[in-house]
Amino acid sequence: MELHVADHPLIRHKVTVLRNKDTPSPTFRLLVDELVTLLAYEATREVRVVDCQVETPLIPTVGTKIADPAPIIVPILRAGLGMLDGMQRLIPSAEVGFLGMKRNEETLEIITYANRLPEDLTGRQVFLIDPMLATGGSLIMAIDYVLERGATDVTCVCLLAAPEGIQNVQDAVGDRADVKVVVAQVDEKLNEQGYIVPGLGDAGDRLYGIVDL
Ligand code: PRP
Ligand code: URA
Repeated sequence: MELHVADHPLIRHKVTVLRNKDTPSPTFRLLVDELVTLLAYEATREVRVVDCQVETPLIPTVGTKIADPAPIIVPILRAGLGMLDGMQRLIPSAEVGFLGMKRNEETLEIITYANRLPEDLTGRQVFLIDPMLATGGSLIMAIDYVLERGATDVTCVCLLAAPEGIQNVQDAVGDRADVKVVVAQVDEKLNEQGYIVPGLGDAGDRLYGIVDL
């Protein structure tokens, strides 16, 4: 597994505003969207492309276009949905799959309540998006879902990660596939409740409000 931590002053500035407990939901959503666009630039560095012909007003020339099959973006609901628009803006031809996952806040076990992925992901570049990589449980399960469908090239885009979670993902993936994790910042640790510290709290709640299920 390859880890890439974005190091950019604008990213650090925006993450600081996200962390602030007084930042309201509308601002939080806007910042998540902006941060994804900045991270996506790095995350898509190796997106597959092919040569193509283009006619400028002057002459025909050779250009570049995204190769088939189109990449697939998979937000991990709920919080990952806040990152979808930003990713789609950069790769409008990408298809979108959905994984709905919920962490049991007592046991930290992951429940999958929705899975809308193509049966066959052979040859597809997959972008898994979720703002928080805490214990890594959700991301590991999401990676397993796409690998068992034949994907071999997976990029995970997250805003904050805990060192423990990164290690867990690394151990779980091993050398099974080419997995890259792009994060805005790596925080200090997990607390006893499995929250990232200093973190930003519950990303889903901060984006969409509190839902008791
Ligand atoms: C959050 C977050 C990740 C997960 C991270 O989602 O968006 O999916 O927790 O924790 P982990 O690394 O320990 O698995 P949550 O389960 O709270 O659901 P939500 O997005 O609906 O709020
Ligand atoms: N999920 C969140 O939304 N925040 C955390 O800190 C950990 C898991």
